[in-house]
Amino acid sequence: MPDSYDSVPYTSFAYGYTHPDALGVLGRLFGLAPAPPTACRVLELGCATGGNLIPMAELLPDSEFVGIDRSRVQVDRGRALIGELGLTNVRLEHGDILRVDPQTIGSFDYVVCHGVLSWVPRQVQDRLLGLTAAVLRPRGLAFISYNVYPGWHMREVVRDMMLFHLRRFEGPQKQLEQARGLVDFVASSVKQRAAEDDPYALLLAKELDTIKGMSDAYLFHEHLERDNSPLYFHEFIDRLRGVPLRYVCDTDLHLMVARDMPDEVRETLARVADDQVSMEQYLDFVRNRQFRTSVLCRTEAAPVRRIEPGRVESLRFTLPGGPTSTPASLEPGVELGFLSASGARISSPEPLTKAALIELGERWPATLDFDTLLEAAAARVREAGVAPNGDGGDNGEPEPEPDRERLAADLIECLLRKAVLARVWEPPLATELGDKPRVSAFNRIAADREGWVATLHHNRSKLAAPLQRLVPLLDGTRDRAQLIAEVTALVNTKQMSIRTQDGAPIEDGPELEAACAEFLDEQLAKLLDLPVLLS
Ligand SMILES: C[S@@+](CC[C@H](N)C(=O)[O-])C[C@H]1O[C@@H](n2cnc3c(N)ncnc32)[C@H](O)[C@@H]1O
Repeated sequence: MPDSYDSVPYTSFAYGYTHPDALGVLGRLFGLAPAPPTACRVLELGCATGGNLIPMAELLPDSEFVGIDRSRVQVDRGRALIGELGLTNVRLEHGDILRVDPQTIGSFDYVVCHGVLSWVPRQVQDRLLGLTAAVLRPRGLAFISYNVYPGWHMREVVRDMMLFHLRRFEGPQKQLEQARGLVDFVASSVKQRAAEDDPYALLLAKELDTIKGMSDAYLFHEHLERDNSPLYFHEFIDRLRGVPLRYVCDTDLHLMVARDMPDEVRETLARVADDQVSMEQYLDFVRNRQFRTSVLCRTEAAPVRRIEPGRVESLRFTLPGGPTSTPASLEPGVELGFLSASGARISSPEPLTKAALIELGERWPATLDFDTLLEAAAARVREAGVAPNGDGGDNGEPEPEPDRERLAADLIECLLRKAVLARVWEPPLATELGDKPRVSAFNRIAADREGWVATLHHNRSKLAAPLQRLVPLLDGTRDRAQLIAEVTALVNTKQMSIRTQDGAPIEDGPELEAACAEFLDEQLAKLLDLPVLLS
């Protein structure tokens, strides 16, 4: 039987939460000592075409990356790209998780397995966990994602009807067509006869919307694979009993806690949950979670759940956002709100914390280490003529030291609400526009061929059509004037279309060059902000 991923190859992307930098932050927060991203070995099981590993490898030349996948077509595609980029620190191997020999591949600081566990038979799932344990170094961290209930119960309603219908159809293209058609038919039929607030009609309409937005490859492997076995979080934890691995945390810290819930919900959860696992299971019930991204370590590594303030002092911080009101008051006791690009909101009455968050927002996309941040925040507070710790004004006494511990504790609160980002590594990102803007070689190719780039936080960002043409030009050899000339030529030859602010296409004519210059400046500013431009 042909491999389903050979027939319909999966486009693999960059996933920020699998990056050794993101995992390293979590390890440190929970009292572990993971290897630095700049000098580590990373294994990805089920790496597909390497869309996650290859951009990591390009920016971390002293670390080593190994990917394993059963689909030869995908591995060959990834290998061709690695050859084109001339990377020597990443290799993809064609192989089956069931047959990988831990002795041969060696040991790893990070093991990543994204989007695989739920889609393989039980035997492969067990081997996947066993293999992870066998190759994970003592201080290592593993990332495993999987589909969970209760969220997947809703999705299974639709998967089951598609699988029933597809018994009669052969070939991926036909099946995809039929699957989309069936959901459309059932959703509209139910809508015609059901009340507007009918739960079944609402469920189908939502699922139909989700499916419409899925690429063929994603729909095929997400919904139509023969194996798709979601489980409850507590069942996943039970599976770990058979291997020397233990749960550290979720990559989304804010989903491990109930900070976003009303007091009475939090009180009840605190009463009924007797440990962290049951707390998270109840939270999954409340949130109707359908996908989990868990971080594991070896059993003997013993993570410490309570996050001590001292642990954030070795991290770097950044904030894609800023205060929600102006002027932003640093006065003690005056609550100031902040909004992050993640949609998270936080507010604080503390002068030093407010100053630190303003500083981070203004310096985005730069990351600041804790001491630099503390110093910059204290300087802002001094400039505003406010006592740094909000504890008294100018009474002639020597100025108190800014309260490190309070800032550290507040940054932990921010992390638990997803209001700031933490890193252990400073990626080589540009913080201002240089003369000759440059993006990574991987991104120049990915933009051109697949229409996306990996940001310097290692997240996929889809590009609008004009940017797909512009990004490949950013190899650091062209200055602004040359880029304007290139963009103008692309527009002239109809290879790129740019529009005025009201959406009208700009064509050849006297205003074309000025419009191209404006377009270029806007787009470069966007790329700087993503961030994608290299220093
Ligand atoms: C849904 S895709 C996920 C790909 C990638 N990790 C991602 O998240 O974008 C699952 C991948 O696991 C691979 N796979 C499935 N069973 C496997 C096995 N037994 N051994 C190795 N790879 C396997 C498939 O070929 C496919 O590339």
